This record gives sequence, structure tokens and C-alpha cells, in this order.
Amino acid sequence: MTVLWAALLGYGFGSIPFGLILTRLAGKGDVRQQGSGNIGATNVLRTGSKGLAAATLLLDGMKGFVPVWLASGWFWDDMGWTALFAVLGHCFPVWLGFKGGKGVATNAGVSFALGWPIGLAYALVWVAMLAVTRISSLAGMTAVVAAAITAAVLGIPTFTKVLVLIALLVLWLHRDNIKRLMAGTEPKVGAAK
Ligand code: G3P
Repeated sequence: MTVLWAALLGYGFGSIPFGLILTRLAGKGDVRQQGSGNIGATNVLRTGSKGLAAATLLLDGMKGFVPVWLASGWFWDDMGWTALFAVLGHCFPVWLGFKGGKGVATNAGVSFALGWPIGLAYALVWVAMLAVTRISSLAGMTAVVAAAITAAVLGIPTFTKVLVLIALLVLWLHRDNIKRLMAGTEPKVGAAK
């Protein structure tokens, strides 16, 4: 039974579409109708507001961190479910007809809550890849893979399984980005699309 509560806790937080809420409140219209159509910080940046993009990044990260942190006190044995469902909530929010984001920022928060070395690996790879390539999708995809590898290296099988599942999901959601990367047409951060 705690599995259900652990999953609901993650999904409840993860499914809050901060990118959409913030851009609407700021009078920027529906972010889903702009740029890539994604509700994440990268696409919020395409609405022209760095502040909104930074707030989306922070809040999307927190909605991954907070439920997993709560679950570590309430449902220790099932916190992996909270982690998985926080990312699933962001990617498939019931409130938006199950069409959400790609999970990168939320999985950053999840990774820090699962363990600071996992979160640190995530953040370092993300920042380094972003600094070198200026391509958000590439930075995000390598960071999610780095988190899964770090959990494996640390010898935490439960978290490794969860992070591998999340990494596969995030890579699948980036399939159009991957095609553009291979074609050399993926936009750099801040470009219109
Ligand atoms: O986190 C999303 C990012 O990796 C890609 O976003 O809007 O360029 O598809 P976008």
C-alpha cells in the first residue's frame, strides 16, 4: 500500500506544470504553442524571459527533490517509486492530457534527493556539457545517463534501476532532438527553436 502513496506523492508534485503556469501568469501565452512546444525551461527561455526560464528550472527541479526527500522519511523502502513517478508526472501530467515535458530538470532534483553524489554528478555533467556545446538537450541527456552510472558505481541497485528507467524515458522523449542532433540542426540555448 505504501507503494501507491509513494507513487502518488511523486506524481502529485511532478505533474505541476510550472513552465506553463509561470508563462501564463506573465502574459506570455501558452508555451506549448511556442518554440518546441515543450513546457520545460529551455522552451520557456524561447518566450524571451531569462527570469521565467530560471524560475521554471528551479521549480521543476524542486518538484523532483521535495517529494523524494519527503519519501525518504515516510516511505524509505518505496522512495524509488516516488522518484520514478515525479518524473512521470512531469512528462505525462494528467492536467495537460498527459502531454508534458522531457524530465531533465525534475530528474536533477530527484537525483539530488536520492543522494548528493548522484545529484552532483548530474549537475557537473549538465553544466559542463552546456558550457561546451550550448545545446540543452545534449546536456540533459548526458546528465541523466551520468546519474544512472553514478548510482551503479556507488552500488545502489534500487536507485540504479530507477535512474536507468528514467534515463531510457528521457532519451525516448528526446527522440526528435536526437534526430536534429544527428542532422546538425539542433538549436543552441536561446535560439528561437
Ligand atoms: O529539457 C528539455 C531540453 O532537453 C530540450 O528542450 O525545448 O529544446 O526540446 P527543447
